[in-house]
Amino acid sequence: MDEILPPAALERLTRAHLPALLARMPKAELHIHIEGSLEPELIFALARRNDVALPYASEQALRAAYAFTDLQSFLDIYYAGASVLLREADFFDMAMAYFRRAAADGVIHAELFFDPQTHTARGVPMRAVIEGLARAQAEAEATLGLSSALILCFLRHLDEADAIATLEAALPWRERFIGVGLDSSERGHPPEKFARVFARCRALGLRPVAHAGEEGPPAYIRTALDELRVQRIDHGVRCVDDPDLVRTLAQSRVPLTVCPLSNIKLRVFARMEDHVLPELLRAGLCVTVNSDDPAYFGGYLLDNYRALFAAHPSLGPRDAWRLAANSFEASFAEPATKTRWIQALAESVDAIASR
Ligand code: ADE
Ligand code: ZN
Repeated sequence: MDEILPPAALERLTRAHLPALLARMPKAELHIHIEGSLEPELIFALARRNDVALPYASEQALRAAYAFTDLQSFLDIYYAGASVLLREADFFDMAMAYFRRAAADGVIHAELFFDPQTHTARGVPMRAVIEGLARAQAEAEATLGLSSALILCFLRHLDEADAIATLEAALPWRERFIGVGLDSSERGHPPEKFARVFARCRALGLRPVAHAGEEGPPAYIRTALDELRVQRIDHGVRCVDDPDLVRTLAQSRVPLTVCPLSNIKLRVFARMEDHVLPELLRAGLCVTVNSDDPAYFGGYLLDNYRALFAAHPSLGPRDAWRLAANSFEASFAEPATKTRWIQALAESVDAIASR
């Protein structure tokens, strides 16, 4: 799309306006694993409803286990938490809880990842997963004015044949999801392992995205681009280790869906002050801010913006606006819809500047 120009009123904003701007500006969230929005309270409520035994005595005991050392240490707990999801109503309740929380943060559009293999491997029907999420999407649109889309993710620690079988099982609901992604344990599972299933997905008109360069090397970002032909990279922060790749990403504006709190909790960076998002923004990349697995990483979308801006005094109102504008640019919405959202974003800047 054409370059999005900042509204003139931005000139009148200072860092003192950041709390209001971050909260009030409309934004899109493009990297949220819906299973990662399951709060301990809902995990325990669903465990009771479905008579599922959990290896934790209480919500507090579960929360206390959220001391991750790397991606795998998180994934082990994340898959255990998802074991309480059995019926259509469970998927509906989970997604509605997320949509309500996201709307409170100023999210007007969300593109949700879901992991069908986590559920179908336990005997949960694909129908329950997709129809529960789809019913919540319709409810969120009607009651919260929040639009959304689904992206079906393949688990990369499983083989490609399993991904192909999952795609086939989901095709009766082809109109319910707009894209496919690649998630779970990154190291040792390069994108090219899934070249055939992604080729088939592209032929079906699905938008391809992939996690790459979270814990894995910049080479995985390159093969996601070249061999899977993805339209967005999820995380992608390790591109900083390859200056040529940073230039390529800046020039193409293939978006990176960055997740600041996740990166700190999973020790991709030691401290928020060390996060490379400001550097990537300055280099001209289409970076966006997202929450990844908000129930596990200590915050939803607005918490991620706040933590990032608190740790980086170099970031100001123009960067806040740019990150929100990028979230709309990077979304898979229609161009006319994006134009409408970017106008609403400019109006929110005007409203804050004229207070
Ligand atoms: N699944 C859920 N969250 C993930 C993450 N941050 N990386 C890879 N797979 C995931
Ligand atoms: Zn993720």
